[in-house]
Amino acid sequence: MPKEFFITTAIYYTNSSPHVGHAYEMVLADVIARYHRLKGEKVFFLTGVDQHGQKVQQSAAKAGVPPAEFVKEITQKWVDLGKKLDVKYDEWAETTSDRHKKVVRGILQRLFDEGQIYKDKQSGYYSVRQEQFLTDKERGPDGQFGPEWGEIEFREEENYYFKLSQHRDWLLEYLDNRADAVIPNFRQKELRNAVERISGDLCISRPKSRLDWGIELPFDKDFVTYVWFDALTNYISFAGYDPSLSTFNSQPSTFRDRWPALQIIGKDILVPAHGIYWLIMLHAIGFPDKQMPQLLVHGWWNLGGAKMSKSVGNIVDPFVLAEKYGSDALRYYLMRDITTGKDADFSEERVLSAHNDALANSLGNLLNRTLQMISRFCDGALHVNKTSKVFSDIQSKWVQWAPLITESYQSNVVDSGLTVLHIVAAFFNRLIEDKRPWDLAKASTTEAREELFDVLYVLAESLRIIAILISPVLPKAAHGTFDQLNWKMELSGKEERFSFGDAEWGRLPDGHLVGKPVPLFPRIEVDEGV
Ligand code: MSP
Repeated sequence: MPKEFFITTAIYYTNSSPHVGHAYEMVLADVIARYHRLKGEKVFFLTGVDQHGQKVQQSAAKAGVPPAEFVKEITQKWVDLGKKLDVKYDEWAETTSDRHKKVVRGILQRLFDEGQIYKDKQSGYYSVRQEQFLTDKERGPDGQFGPEWGEIEFREEENYYFKLSQHRDWLLEYLDNRADAVIPNFRQKELRNAVERISGDLCISRPKSRLDWGIELPFDKDFVTYVWFDALTNYISFAGYDPSLSTFNSQPSTFRDRWPALQIIGKDILVPAHGIYWLIMLHAIGFPDKQMPQLLVHGWWNLGGAKMSKSVGNIVDPFVLAEKYGSDALRYYLMRDITTGKDADFSEERVLSAHNDALANSLGNLLNRTLQMISRFCDGALHVNKTSKVFSDIQSKWVQWAPLITESYQSNVVDSGLTVLHIVAAFFNRLIEDKRPWDLAKASTTEAREELFDVLYVLAESLRIIAILISPVLPKAAHGTFDQLNWKMELSGKEERFSFGDAEWGRLPDGHLVGKPVPLFPRIEVDEGV
């Protein structure tokens, strides 16, 4: 078992700015990473940007700036997105960095020396405008290449190829022996079908005359490596992998302690990139089967059932949403309205409702009412009676609720845990209506006084536990709740403030003074919102 929990996202193309679908993937990884930190695990969360390639070279040319400059500007937007959404990663991958290039070259050289990479000639129809070879897939119904391809010529080109197909049987066997190589399971089946159809090898180079914005091949300076050996290698190059050491066991302990990773990717890059190329690349450089990463494949956010794309112009900007509704509300919406693995339709009205209904009215209101009552009826002090019925009733409720929430995080399906937390908040709002603490405060009997204390205590203590359990999704609100409860103030603002160890029922001590209520989610009026 690795000593660290290692989680990655895809790395993002730097030819355009992030949209809400990308934001979702980063937040999902962040939530899972925060959950593991909450369990007390050491976490290594890697995300970053994919800076080389044809698309970037073309976009930079269009913008009239050198690719390096272009990439720098777009990279900053991805960094800003992480900050804006409270995504707390441990390492940031940039594929133009020397550290990365060194690992890519080291791996390519080794595979070349071992005869796994060879040079070959390809000939076929080539689109000068699109700078790519065309296959029969690109032919129109009339059998011709359409005008979008511009001038077509017959070309011969030499390139380097990686012996992909010789690892096909290994990959089939690996997938058959490991049921959870890919989650959800239907994606593993989809991958297996694709593996059965592998026929050729993988072209891994482009002549510099065609593409020079890439990593030069160590054994031929006229070529750069094309896409996958560059991009996929980031998962190990930024984690401490040393390409000069050929066996897995000889790798530095920094790397061995964290590998293998849980890799979060979208459904579009499972086949062939991660499910075929990446697993085979790792196998080819000597990673044993038990060191294969697990692939967690998520679905896509669509808009009105259609794919979001820059060319269609239906991109939803996550910066605008975070500005309008706050990062917590956006994170909450992105985790609540999709089930990991499935697609969902984006709706700004539902972001607003996540903010106003689930957060302001339910959770925020519960905190506000509870603190107001403690301040008004008990001078801000808690009184605990651990032998009271209310105390033990609510304790046993938490014995049921807490595992439902943690199991949801543990299985990377966050929406079901949030549904439970929503029900819990509604339960306590109802408890307030049922117990009517304002009437108990007016009554002069000892029983009424005791019940008032008991009810206010379980409310405050439950809010403390809710804050811990929701902290992976709502880090700001969790801190806000702790601040207002006046709990763990010495760790204010720090993630270590939250831990499962601290989620034990009954930790708020007798006589504890809570703070002043401040609305966590000030309501957003509809006209201002959508
Ligand atoms: N750079 C490659 C991946 C290389 S990984 C070694 C790439 N980049 S990307 O920027 O186009 O996409 C990055 C991730 O964002 C992918 O996992 C992709 O599935 C995800 N998403 C892109 N659009 C999305 C939605 N509309 N919804 C959810 N995720 C989306 O591919």
